[in-house]
Amino acid sequence: MLRSVVRGVGSALPKKTLTNDDLAKIVDTSDDWIVQRTGIERRQIAGEGETTSTLGTKAARAAMAQAGWAPEDIDLIVVATSTPDNTFPSSATQIQAALGITQGVAFDLQAVCAGFVFAVATADKFLLSGSHRRALVIGAETFSRILDWNDRSTCVLFGDGAGAIALEAVPGRGDTRDRGVLTTQIRSDGRHRAKLFVDGGPSSTQTVGHLRMEGKEVFRFAVGQVTGVVKDAFEATGLTAEDLDWFVPHQANRRIIDMSAQKLGIAPEKVVVTVQDHGNTSAASVPLALSVAVADGRIKPGHLVMLEAVGGGFTWGAALLRW
Ligand code: ACO
Repeated sequence: MLRSVVRGVGSALPKKTLTNDDLAKIVDTSDDWIVQRTGIERRQIAGEGETTSTLGTKAARAAMAQAGWAPEDIDLIVVATSTPDNTFPSSATQIQAALGITQGVAFDLQAVCAGFVFAVATADKFLLSGSHRRALVIGAETFSRILDWNDRSTCVLFGDGAGAIALEAVPGRGDTRDRGVLTTQIRSDGRHRAKLFVDGGPSSTQTVGHLRMEGKEVFRFAVGQVTGVVKDAFEATGLTAEDLDWFVPHQANRRIIDMSAQKLGIAPEKVVVTVQDHGNTSAASVPLALSVAVADGRIKPGHLVMLEAVGGGFTWGAALLRW
């Protein structure tokens, strides 16, 4: 059977850093409050000329370089984003053009903060079907552009950035010793719209709108659903938390990450945490965290890695893979 094996990973961050002290000059907040409630210390914010597709292109180039891929090697690009440069064309086709790729197919997928896990699941299914061979899976966002910078309860939480992985279809044995994606589990429940949404859009208000959130409700839901779907991924493979080398959760909030890991029985030293540096970069958060942990030598070939994320919709999912 085929497996989708990770050949490379890359990331890109905007140049400008915004610290909690910088934010305290804009809204009534403090470094103490933000660090205690969220673990976030700083985030990068896109400036002039930096967009979702420029950041996504940079991250994709880095992943291609690590994989040793040329533009003509790639036949699938899936971009997870809720903050595309334009309503259309998709950021994926813009990234495709910027990378000089003229064959294959490129499309966007929108599942907010769970977007990257949804994109991995989607690309994996394309690769396993045999229809495509080499995929770039990208999470890229500029949430700073949909934040209400007068609302302290949301504007302190998010940052901008992009991350990408290069996935290749490779024959495997069909057991959990294989490298590559071992299982993906994705879910959604549209009844929770009011808890996390953007109050604008092309078909409703003809404006871009701003992110609105009931923080406490999202927190409660996130911990419950994350633990459920990660358990489903373990069950689907017969593997357990003890087998895991690295847990790479969506980086929304330190307290959500710690609580989820604890409920799942995952040791704190196996958890990759980057939220302090990036804030919540939505669909970019998981590949950004992956990129950091590969670059600093924590994640190595053969390691068992669990990705998970939850986002607006609600949407949530997990992907278990052997690096
Ligand atoms: N600085 C200072 N005070 C603040 C700030 C701020 N930035 N934001 C809110 N407050 C105040 C509130 O006004 C409130 O004051 P009051 O008691 O006088 O009314 C007080 O702090 C407590 O507010 P709560 O909203 O009850 O604070 P809570 O402890 O729930 O923490 C937080 C808020 C951090 C948003 C938390 O609910 C949370 O982490 N939720 C998860 C949300 C999340 O991560 N969303 C990301 C998108 S979804 C996803 O990626 C999973």
